[in-house]
Amino acid sequence: MIIAEHVEEKKKIKELYNSMGGTIYDLRYSEEQETKYKIVLDSTKFLSTEQGGCKLDIGCGTGLLIKKIRGYVVGTDISSQLLLKAVERSNKETFLVNADAENLPFRSCIFNMLFGITILQNLSNFNKAFSEFERVSTAEGIIVISMIKKALSLQDFLKLVKENLRSYKLLSESSSDWIIMGKTSKKLLENSEDFYACTQMQGRKQIGA
Ligand SMILES: C[S@@+](CC[C@H](N)C(=O)[O-])C[C@H]1O[C@@H](n2cnc3c(N)ncnc32)[C@H](O)[C@@H]1O
Repeated sequence: MIIAEHVEEKKKIKELYNSMGGTIYDLRYSEEQETKYKIVLDSTKFLSTEQGGCKLDIGCGTGLLIKKIRGYVVGTDISSQLLLKAVERSNKETFLVNADAENLPFRSCIFNMLFGITILQNLSNFNKAFSEFERVSTAEGIIVISMIKKALSLQDFLKLVKENLRSYKLLSESSSDWIIMGKTSKKLLENSEDFYACTQMQGRKQIGA
């Protein structure tokens, strides 16, 4: 059962992005976001697209990053209006889902790469969000996530990251976001049914393989 928290805060955020709409969002932010994508894509080049698997872009907005990612990608966002713009950028390997990042409507252990660019500052419950990212991630899943610098000091951002990821690397101090790449931690799932399901699935090919 999904128990939604911070419903009013989320409604406000959703309305804010919906009222902006995709065209204005792109006009205002695409240039700034492009500098972050360059850092993100340069740092994840080593990941083979031949492995198959599926990637998740959390808070994908208008799909600016999705169109640069090869292979199967699911984009999810709370704003239906921004997703409408993402639809224009999608292809047959793109799937878009209108959902809350803290209550992801996906089964466990299916994404081997997760992106969340300039999303964290919008979330109400960081620990809930990270536990969802961990749940939907494969056991060796990698996450690249960022938060705008003006929302949190580097010290506090790294504290949050250390609490929630198995390992991490700070990718950038040069953009307007703190950007890190890390491994989603599976320690919280050990001995649980989810962990069992996850380890079973590692032997099989993932979605999109
Ligand atoms: C600053 S924008 C970044 C969008 C996109 N990642 C990019 O690089 O352009 C933040 C995005 O997070 C989405 N968002 C905010 N709260 C969310 C939530 N709880 N769940 C999913 N998406 C959310 C917004 O609708 C918006 O698209």
